[in-house]
Amino acid sequence: MSEFNSNLQTAKQLAIKAAAQAYAPYSRFKVGAVLTLKNGDTISGCNVENVSYGLSNCAERTALFSAIAQGVDLTEIAQVTIYTPSDEVYSPCGACRQVMAEFLSAETPVISTSNGGEQHWTVSSLLPHAFHFDIENYRAD
Ligand code: THU
Repeated sequence: MSEFNSNLQTAKQLAIKAAAQAYAPYSRFKVGAVLTLKNGDTISGCNVENVSYGLSNCAERTALFSAIAQGVDLTEIAQVTIYTPSDEVYSPCGACRQVMAEFLSAETPVISTSNGGEQHWTVSSLLPHAFHFDIENYRAD
């Protein structure tokens, strides 16, 4: 097996474990996300819902916010791996795409896996023309 595939299989196994931790009593849609660092370390996240539905947080953002809280150097993130326990492969929601665009480089691979298959993108292919704002050079009237 290639190194890429063995890293992906490891990340998928961790994403399966992360999905099992999801708090998703409202949608029953469990998601796990794993950030793999260049040195092989990983940070996991799951979705966490709320009875006030709009407060729910997706697995991808949980993983990224955890990495930030742990003081991880975000430039070391080599890959994002997502897992949903289903036959279909799901793509990340728009909010997570914008958050990934904030913290990850455009070329970072984002791979969604399921029991039925997998799909590969990059941060910029998921969200071309992401909103960016350069506060240093912005002048309000
Ligand atoms: N969800 C994720 O965790 N990641 C996504 O990219 C899409 C949606 C979660 C949010 C909510 O808890 C549930 O899936 C159903 O939308």
